[in-house]
Amino acid sequence: MINFRKAVMVGCGFVGSASVFALMQSGLFSEIAMIDADMDKAEGEAMDISHGIPFAKQMRVYAGNYDDVRDAGIVIVTAGANQKPDETRLDLVHKNVGIFKSIIPEIASRDFKGILLIVANPVDILTAVAQKLSGLPENRVIGSGTVLDTGRLKTRLSAHLGVDSRSIHAFIIGEHGDSEIAVFSSANVSGIPLNDFCEMRGHYSHDEAEKNIAEEVKNAAYEIIQRKRATYFGVAMAVKRICECIVRDEKSILPVSAMMHGELGIDGVVLSMPCIVGSEGIETQVPIKLDEDELKRLRDSAGILKGIIEELDI
Ligand SMILES: NC(=O)c1ccc[n+]([C@@H]2O[C@H](COP(=O)([O-])OP(=O)(O)OC[C@H]3O[C@@H](n4cnc5c(N)ncnc54)[C@H](O)[C@@H]3O)[C@@H](O)[C@H]2O)c1
Repeated sequence: MINFRKAVMVGCGFVGSASVFALMQSGLFSEIAMIDADMDKAEGEAMDISHGIPFAKQMRVYAGNYDDVRDAGIVIVTAGANQKPDETRLDLVHKNVGIFKSIIPEIASRDFKGILLIVANPVDILTAVAQKLSGLPENRVIGSGTVLDTGRLKTRLSAHLGVDSRSIHAFIIGEHGDSEIAVFSSANVSGIPLNDFCEMRGHYSHDEAEKNIAEEVKNAAYEIIQRKRATYFGVAMAVKRICECIVRDEKSILPVSAMMHGELGIDGVVLSMPCIVGSEGIETQVPIKLDEDELKRLRDSAGILKGIIEELDI
């Protein structure tokens, strides 16, 4: 029987262990099993994180194995190489597809009935790979996509506008990477069009500000990696937020990576679009309004991802 109070983390590096740390504090799960190719690493992280449990909510965090997948509600995959300074996410593709060829069949062979959440990069490509290798229905294989990038956009807009980031409705869509698109045309602050809110706050150079903010968001990972070698706290909170939507069947709208089937003229590519997320994974995509330039850039982003996926031997 599926147990939505149980999660499995595959990959216990920076991102995997920070995510389990965030999940441990969230109270969402009764148990989290941690798996890594380096068993000592999984054991050490599980021990360390479990020592925080008395200060949060009762649960178990332990080093496990693939048999833990059988009854898990969510399996999160963060295993894989991360970006080194000057590497793009797409540079990781061959290394991490190889790693997925060893991990995903282990999950699929356990008759897994829950939601598979892919976080390793390049996340859009690896979500497509995981869908193919697992044979699971597409709605149950989700990529964390541009949930983190959208968080970065809201953080930046919040500082620019002097308003709570949670009152801002704006999305980054497309690739989680260099061709991502900040959708400003439909962005708003609690229903007030973004440009109107900007003017209320004394900002009038809309094009220049949008360009700068989008660039900062796109380059955030490079800036962080240059300074501290890896990014993990922001993504850990994004993982926690996605798990929350699934476990609590929230049906919140999040920009997760999903397979496109002809929407906006894009077919056979996994990329991020706003989707309703709940206990079945992705319920449906939400038709976000794009202007002509945003639509063109989304199609270009899809073209880049499609070119890579077609070259892969999966
Ligand atoms: N989607 C996002 O928003 C986002 C954000 C940050 C990082 N990432 C990605 O997450 C991934 C992990 O990053 P990190 O900084 O934690 O890297 P890391 O090197 O710290 O950790 C990777 C872990 O994977 C393990 N691993 C490797 N092969 C394995 C296998 N076959 N089975 C089980 N475990 C295996 C390693 O032992 C290591 O502990 C990278 O691909 C990174 O680019 C994604």
